[in-house]
Amino acid sequence: MEWNECAAVVVSLLSPYLRRAERPVDGAPRPGARSVARNQEWLRCQTIMDLVKDRPLVAAPLAVLEERPDDAEAQALLETRLGEVFLRDTALMGRVWTELLREEGRCVLDMAIVLMTPLIAEGYVLDVGGGGEGIIGRLAGDRVVAIDASRRELEEAPDGPLKIVMNVCDLAFLSGSFETATCFFSLMYLRAEERWDAIQQIARVLKPGGKLLIWDTEIPVWEPGTDELIVVPLLVQTPEEEILTGYGVSWEGREQSAEAVVALGHAAGLEVTLRQTQGSVFHLEMVKPANGDDRSGV
Ligand SMILES: C[S@@+](CC[C@H](N)C(=O)[O-])C[C@H]1O[C@@H](n2cnc3c(N)ncnc32)[C@H](O)[C@@H]1O
Repeated sequence: MEWNECAAVVVSLLSPYLRRAERPVDGAPRPGARSVARNQEWLRCQTIMDLVKDRPLVAAPLAVLEERPDDAEAQALLETRLGEVFLRDTALMGRVWTELLREEGRCVLDMAIVLMTPLIAEGYVLDVGGGGEGIIGRLAGDRVVAIDASRRELEEAPDGPLKIVMNVCDLAFLSGSFETATCFFSLMYLRAEERWDAIQQIARVLKPGGKLLIWDTEIPVWEPGTDELIVVPLLVQTPEEEILTGYGVSWEGREQSAEAVVALGHAAGLEVTLRQTQGSVFHLEMVKPANGDDRSGV
């Protein structure tokens, strides 16, 4: 399965339950949250009930239903209150969505909360795989040059960045063009051999002293008989909004670890200056030394 098909699969997995979970404006309900609450199948899902049963809003009608399972009033109240709980708690929605996907037999990593702060470096930011949600573009707007192999993914991303259809393994920019490069959950879409080309190319187009910022997930070794797709659910928090999303990719051949990415960076002449992990998700900051040899090799 190619990456563009993977994106479509994730969207189709998501759509019955939720769409973008943006903060409600003026208390307006989010359509995705409503559809979660109104989904009767969902109400029967024990795992999900376990996640919400202690919420005060939900506990009261649940207690009534334990005594009188057919009480229509308590059922209606429970549904309304579930909706309210989900409207206020995007992280809970994310956990529910994760459980629903797992119940469908999907291989879903634990949801991570990714806190994004504004990018303060000067100059242009090269955002690799910058289509889709376009998270980096949301943070740095017209300072971003978003490249993506998929025209459709770029078209779907919010306006702001300069968007160019380009393969990261063959960047058309001159060496030393960018102060900053970002890979926000784009390395996971590449095969192992492509990742080396990608990191070499990114190292080449960074200025001396420039930084590569990576957010990505570890992907365990695929074994025959397991799901073909692996999904990482994310709650991305920017200063402006919360975005509940998930990135899924055809699993076989996409195994990766933070360690392996660090090794690629070192081999391309980059120095790792920051390394953070949260479950399977990792964030790396790598710097191209100001006076170092150009070891990008391309
Ligand atoms: C999970 S999406 C990245 C998410 C995105 N950064 C965001 O903010 O939502 C991965 C992206 O990598 C792109 N991609 C896959 N292979 C690529 C390649 N060789 N060169 C450039 N982009 C690629 C895909 O088209 C996809 O849009």
